[in-house]
Amino acid sequence: MSQEPKYCKIPPRLIEKYGKSFPFDVYLKLGPSKIIKISHGDEDIIEIYKKYRSKGVEDVYALQEEYKKFINYMRKAIKNKFFDESTIDDRVTTLDSCYGVAKEAFQKIGVTEESIALAQDIAKKSLESLNEQPNIFKFFERFKENCSEEYMYNVTLTFTITSMMEFVDWASSAIKEKSVMAVMLRDLILTPEHFEEIKNWDGDRNSLSKMALNHPILVADMLQQDNKNWVSSEIIQIIQQHHERPHGTGFPAGTKHLQISQLSAIHIVADVFTDKLIQSEFNFKEKDKILSEIENNFYVGTFRKAVDALRDMFG
Ligand SMILES: [Fe+2]
Repeated sequence: MSQEPKYCKIPPRLIEKYGKSFPFDVYLKLGPSKIIKISHGDEDIIEIYKKYRSKGVEDVYALQEEYKKFINYMRKAIKNKFFDESTIDDRVTTLDSCYGVAKEAFQKIGVTEESIALAQDIAKKSLESLNEQPNIFKFFERFKENCSEEYMYNVTLTFTITSMMEFVDWASSAIKEKSVMAVMLRDLILTPEHFEEIKNWDGDRNSLSKMALNHPILVADMLQQDNKNWVSSEIIQIIQQHHERPHGTGFPAGTKHLQISQLSAIHIVADVFTDKLIQSEFNFKEKDKILSEIENNFYVGTFRKAVDALRDMFG
């Protein structure tokens, strides 16, 4: 019995920009069961895609077994010298699309050498772009219309974490890189619906869906399955603890501050701050209010140093 082919999505932006030289065929979904193939060898993928797009066809796919080729192709593209020479707008929107590719790979295929390497490249290049436009408010304003909410959140969080680390004496560039990687990986299996659920969480663990509740453990397990250590133990621990809270009111485990690492505490505080900052639409007049709220709820155990670093960040 022949098996139905499995497909993975290609972000439209990437087909428009790079489709001409894709080393594999792409597939367009014209209806619930109608899929057509565009061969890369003898057809102009971009022109055909544009023609269908004007008729409302958005979804482009590669065969699941060829998705690794696509990931490697995109890794080469973002590491290419000409990528650095293109405009920051171009680079950031491409990185955003590549984040979508990493998500698709994690959700449909699982963890592979290629998807981990892609996440690493996205983390590194995103940090470089952030250093180039170090005013996070301007960065956010500039890219929020053209990038996914999730990627923008991750970049803003990365900015907060790396800025806080300037005021922590043990922070090294290796620790910063691990932190950025943890941010890029931690929610890769979640959908927009899960994010909405977590955002509106009432504090009762039973009210969360299994996926929303357990994603910190599920992602950590994916990264350690078959006795493979795809990432370092520090990254695993940050991912496992990123929704925990100092007094045990977080999830999934309800871990208290004594069991929460110093590095995780920085991530958790930075996460809460970033969320409130974005909610206030970067209204820096709200800064003192946000800082006091965080101080009241987090100033205990390993979290003290994290809150101090957040305060120091503002001088
Ligand atoms: Fe999460």
